Amino acid sequence: MRILGLNSSPKGKASQTRRLVQAVLDGAAAKGAETEYIDLRKYTIEYCIGCRKCFATGKCVFDDDYAPLLEKMLAADGMVWGSPNYSFCVNAPMKALIDRMADVIHCQYFDGKYCAAVCTAGRDHAIITRFLANNFNDLGAYVTGTAGALVTEGEAAVARAEILSFSLGQALADDIVSQRPYFDQHVAIDANRLDFQAKIRQYKEQWPYQYEYWEKRGWG
Ligand SMILES: Cc1cc2nc3c(=O)[nH]c(=O)nc-3n(C[C@H](O)[C@H](O)[C@H](O)COP(=O)(O)O)c2cc1C
Repeated sequence: MRILGLNSSPKGKASQTRRLVQAVLDGAAAKGAETEYIDLRKYTIEYCIGCRKCFATGKCVFDDDYAPLLEKMLAADGMVWGSPNYSFCVNAPMKALIDRMADVIHCQYFDGKYCAAVCTAGRDHAIITRFLANNFNDLGAYVTGTAGALVTEGEAAVARAEILSFSLGQALADDIVSQRPYFDQHVAIDANRLDFQAKIRQYKEQWPYQYEYWEKRGWG
């Protein structure tokens, strides 16, 4: 069982979000998972230019660190993504990564994966973990849970969230082993898939890669 932890804070070892991502990985490792931490600031991820070439070819027009990072994500059974709250949203590196994943969303490549989201913030962490959780579902993955801390509440608040994050990592690993069905998420993911498939059928000529992908995989 492989679990990947990704942190988009630019602060490296000083990142508070890093503590929560690492705690999730430690919890998963305690349940036998092989884990890897990724510092997103070390990856060059260009901004999506909305050309939709990936819909047609399955490949992005940019030759940067996105493709190798995607490969790592696809090889993982589970993931935890962490971002600080910047201006009521994930910070720019995390947004740049998610924007590049439109093809992954259309093809539901995260189907069968289990994920978790963490955030540290000054005033609101839930807005960010909700955003990340929504994106995981959009990518086809189940969300085991989320954790967050307000750094403005002091060290004790972050330490408490670290303990919660450790439990979240254990739950994430348990979900992967048991392939836990989340009924409500399953219904939402299924509805998304049907929407994407309808679009892809409509744009069959323009998006041959995605059309052929679903033809091969089966539309059901
Ligand atoms: C540029 C910037 C913008 C921020 N905007 C918000 C915000 O809108 N809401 C909030 O709750 N916290 C905000 N914060 C606080 C950070 O989310 C908080 O310090 C977080 O713990 C940083 O995480 P890190 O140490 O992992 O980088 C902002 C911080 C910075 C540097």
